[in-house]
Amino acid sequence: MIRHRIDQILSRHGYCSRGESRGWLKAGRVKVGDRSALDPAEKVSVADLRIDGEPVDHPEGILVMLHKPAGLVCSRDEREGPNIYSLLPERWSRRNPPITSVGRLDKETTGLLLITDQGPLVQRWTSPRHKVLKRYEVEVDQDLDPSLVPLFGSGTLRLPDDPEPCLPAELTLTGARSATLDLIEGRHHQVRRMFASQGFRVVALHRSRFGALELGTLPPGEWLAVDEPAI
Ligand code: URA
Repeated sequence: MIRHRIDQILSRHGYCSRGESRGWLKAGRVKVGDRSALDPAEKVSVADLRIDGEPVDHPEGILVMLHKPAGLVCSRDEREGPNIYSLLPERWSRRNPPITSVGRLDKETTGLLLITDQGPLVQRWTSPRHKVLKRYEVEVDQDLDPSLVPLFGSGTLRLPDDPEPCLPAELTLTGARSATLDLIEGRHHQVRRMFASQGFRVVALHRSRFGALELGTLPPGEWLAVDEPAI
């Protein structure tokens, strides 16, 4: 069983800084099994630690699926407005490493967003090499033309300022002005720009699927812990 210093466990999991940990121990908030911990340098197994009577939060790392509502940005830069991190436990942003989103959705886009503290997962799932399927439900401002289906699927569609054409994407028309679009890449504002290149404005955009994960009935603003899926 790997053991770590108590002050390191507390700071790594976002409870308090290493300097503050002595105060937490003095206040009797930290136990090892049934006994109060007294020395922040003591090495213990994470599984044996209790903080305010609770086991350490997500000791194996965080991976959650969030239903992003409209109006929140994925950036932490406060100048860009309220962000998705306000929906998640504050402590998760103080972890080391802190949580981050797997890619980003625009401020007005809703739907499935993965949140994790595991950098390798972010790299794997945002890399175009891994071809993770993202499904978007799209509404546009004018009636759609069936000719968009082969065009988006062709692998020849070019976006202004992007040197490479878009990889083939699967467009399914679901109504006069609505469609689903399956992408395996994730360029900046890609869905909006693909439609804009053909004269359409996207008026609503929702991501319902990311790899093997479906958003299902998870309400907007809520999150759910998920097992690392076979994406
Ligand atoms: N494509 C977009 O244009 N916006 C998003 O938020 C996601 C994909």
